Amino acid sequence: MSDKVIIFDTTLRDGEQCPGASMNLREKLEVARQLARLNVDVIEAGFPVISDGDFEAVQRIATEVRGPIIAGLARCVTKDIEAAASAVKPAGERGRIHVFLATSKIHREHKLKKAHEEILRLAAEGVRLAKSHTRDVEFSPEDASRTEPEFLARVVETAIGAGATTVNIPDTVGFAVPEQFGALIRYLKDNVRNIDDAVISVHCHNDLGLAVANSLAAVQNGARQIEGTINGIGERAGNVALEEVVMAMKTRPDVFGPLGTGVHTREILKTSRIVSRMSGLHVQRSKAIVGENAFAHSSGIHQDGILKKRETYEIMDPVEVGWGGTELPLTKHSGRHAMAARLEHLGYKLSDEEIDAVFTRFKDIGDKKKFVYDDDLSAIVDDSMMPQAEGWQLRELEVTVATGRKPHAKVVLVRGTETRTGDAEGNGAVDSSMRAIDAVVGRSGNLVEYNVQAVTQGHDALGEVTLKVDFGDGRLITGKGASTDVVEASARAYLNAINRTFIRRELGEQARGV
Ligand code: KIV
Ligand code: ZN
Repeated sequence: MSDKVIIFDTTLRDGEQCPGASMNLREKLEVARQLARLNVDVIEAGFPVISDGDFEAVQRIATEVRGPIIAGLARCVTKDIEAAASAVKPAGERGRIHVFLATSKIHREHKLKKAHEEILRLAAEGVRLAKSHTRDVEFSPEDASRTEPEFLARVVETAIGAGATTVNIPDTVGFAVPEQFGALIRYLKDNVRNIDDAVISVHCHNDLGLAVANSLAAVQNGARQIEGTINGIGERAGNVALEEVVMAMKTRPDVFGPLGTGVHTREILKTSRIVSRMSGLHVQRSKAIVGENAFAHSSGIHQDGILKKRETYEIMDPVEVGWGGTELPLTKHSGRHAMAARLEHLGYKLSDEEIDAVFTRFKDIGDKKKFVYDDDLSAIVDDSMMPQAEGWQLRELEVTVATGRKPHAKVVLVRGTETRTGDAEGNGAVDSSMRAIDAVVGRSGNLVEYNVQAVTQGHDALGEVTLKVDFGDGRLITGKGASTDVVEASARAYLNAINRTFIRRELGEQARGV
């Protein structure tokens, strides 16, 4: 058995499934390119049958992203498998179809209403159909950890017999505990006749906070693929955080022996930041490996120890996961060429038109801010590249806040050749700005979540606002905006959310009833 643990990233599929995380095509491509630089082995780029947007994202990633295997998810249903096959086709030999079917008693009886034999038949048919399209087929018995082990073994044997090259054992509802989950993997290794014909994978959710422990117990018992997401984003309490399992194996060779991954760990922090920015999901400060405080030492005793010998209080070298890189900031004097080169270095692939749009905002910000750091630049890209090309852009914002009077805002918005003005009162500077925007665009959103973060440090730091808005259909739309002024950043973020709803409608991104 190989010592290499395959890293399967599902940030763009399972990660993207969590409320408010939805990314547009450009954002998904940025994330996928960065995942390739991180050197993950597999990128699950989406669930192609679910929407036109998902299909297009998987297809574009399969076309443009080189290196990792590109997987598309499908139920054991013909239309799903065919959609996944055609979406991953541009990846050629690097295309993988990932089919899944629930196997636990509760899912069989209440969700699928199917008996054992029918589940076995559907699994075999699904894998065979997928296999007629790609050599590389993964099968997942959904809710495997709550499936009777004997039946699970039969399903796994059937899937491998039908041609599955990877069998994934999901802890779909995060129910497993490490000892039992490790034993389940061992049981499959010992009881499935053809198990050596496939790679055993695990896919752990974090409902009990045990996803990392469960994944590691599984590799210690024979699993050789771990599925998870960057920053652990995903449904409910999320998926296993890949950066954590990767660094656990790397940091503790005394426990994991020669087991390891091909991940370029110095890219971890950058990947975390990109995923956080693109998904609008912030990383908690104390999050292992990638949180702001992960390597911060505030107590005097610790600081003293670190200065004497770093290892006294640090089990990993922060540089190994991407902290502490020096960068030369841009300034308002930097030209378009220097800015474009910096963007390329950061991994952005932008057209000339897009660079122009970013450069206009860069100059604007550069006038207000002494140095423009890499994180500022990323925020500027997000802010200026949003689907606003087709939507409304903020030309002017004027807010009056005075004691004893209701805050009042006036906005000037442009879309193509159209210019409109709106004004409104509100409960505060941000609220009145949003209402003034509503007056122009004729929609009204309910602010469900609001977050402001200083992108870099100092009195002139860029503030990045991420908000989630419900426009009345129950879906949460994320909007992002950046400015040296937080009220302006908020107005930009709100407008960004509005523009996203227009784009979504135009792309017909509604779920197709899956
Ligand atoms: O959690 C789960 O069971 C899944 C499967 C589709 C692999 O995401
Ligand atoms: Zn999952």
